[in-house]
Amino acid sequence: MNNFTFYSPTEFVFGRETETQVGLLCKKYGASRVMLVYGGGSVVRSGLLDKVKQSLTEQDIAFCELGGVQPNPIDTKVYEGLELAKSFAPDFLLPVGGGSTIDTAKAIAAGYYYEGDFWDFYVTPARPTKALPLGVVLTIPAAGSEGSGNTVITNTKTHVKNGLRMPMLLRPKFAIMNPELTMTLPEWQTASGISDMIAHILERYLSNTPDVQIGDRLAEGMILAIMEEAEKVIANPKDYEARANIMWSGTIAHNDTCSLGRQEDWNSHAMEHEISAEYDVTHGAGLAVVFPAFLKYAANHNPHKVAQLAHRVFGVADSGDASADAHEGAKRFKTWLHDKLHLPVNFAQLGVPEPNIELMNTRLHKLKGEVLQGYMQLDADATKVIYEYCKE
Ligand code: NZQ
Ligand code: ZN
Repeated sequence: MNNFTFYSPTEFVFGRETETQVGLLCKKYGASRVMLVYGGGSVVRSGLLDKVKQSLTEQDIAFCELGGVQPNPIDTKVYEGLELAKSFAPDFLLPVGGGSTIDTAKAIAAGYYYEGDFWDFYVTPARPTKALPLGVVLTIPAAGSEGSGNTVITNTKTHVKNGLRMPMLLRPKFAIMNPELTMTLPEWQTASGISDMIAHILERYLSNTPDVQIGDRLAEGMILAIMEEAEKVIANPKDYEARANIMWSGTIAHNDTCSLGRQEDWNSHAMEHEISAEYDVTHGAGLAVVFPAFLKYAANHNPHKVAQLAHRVFGVADSGDASADAHEGAKRFKTWLHDKLHLPVNFAQLGVPEPNIELMNTRLHKLKGEVLQGYMQLDADATKVIYEYCKE
């Protein structure tokens, strides 16, 4: 196991009606002027935003509002937020929604004290040294941003979608997680979120670091539990216990618990980000296309972890041929995503019948380097093969 530092100070407040505590929690973390950030209207329609505002008012906390964050959030909304922040001078940010809303708030938090362009943090070595604190009211289990130090934004001019990872600065102070709030999610978003959280676990699982049994077993156990609970949620979206299990999984999948002390692999995500940047597809659905293709490539080039996954999670008997077992595991995962979650598993099903692989591949390597490092070394020829597998 490698050396590591784990700093994860978020206070998670989980369960029914926990959103009524938001005013008190903001106060606890020093807020007196809050900027609310939310998406395209789901929190307005559900009445959640009104409840949050009432709770802030009860604690005499002033607030302003930045609505209209779109999925695959964009730089222009961050600039709008930074302008609003300049005039309102918030001391705390409160995203109410999912990963897109939270990531936009984190970008504003990081950009607030910076003299330059916040986008520098996403594509140059510049890093924030100070950020506004934030808390979260989560409405979709998926990106795991409520417990992560990450934010992912798309540049509307260049179509570059990239992340900033600053766990010491950008992990939320608190995250309110009421599984009941996720019952209004359409099946597509629920399923895409589940695909995303499994991908977050697998990006950590695919590692060449030896002797990381705790991380491996946590990952395998979580994927098994998620698959079981996912089928319950798809069958009955009002199943509170299944919703609760899925919601907490989304956080653990991405707050680094199962990646400590090991090399990670974020290349499937980098490849998917090119797809969602260019075609504006739902991130988790894009991953349902990329991940089976990535596992297939790994089955040919570095099968040991994929074979272990196949044996321990997908019920493949150990044949003694790691590559063959890995192929079978990848196939079973793909079938499960398609048959049980009703997700697309190739470009055509994703709504991209003629993907511009050349364009995405060129952008990918321009952003991430000639050879992507991780579980496998991937040059442009290798990632092209994986994108081609995504057509199958
Ligand atoms: O915008 P509204 O109207 O709120 O609707 C949203 C949105 O259309 C809807 N929704 C959310 N909660 C709902 C609901 N609809 C009904 N009932 C509810 N309770 O769901 C849609 C998707 O929301 P979004 O915030 O985009 O979802 P998600 O959490 O999947 O976030 C995706 C973004 O996060 C990035 C992705 O790339 C993508 O841009 N990621 C962020 C990460 C991080 N910060 O750590 C890591 C991830 O790997 C990921 O890359
Ligand atoms: Zn993701």
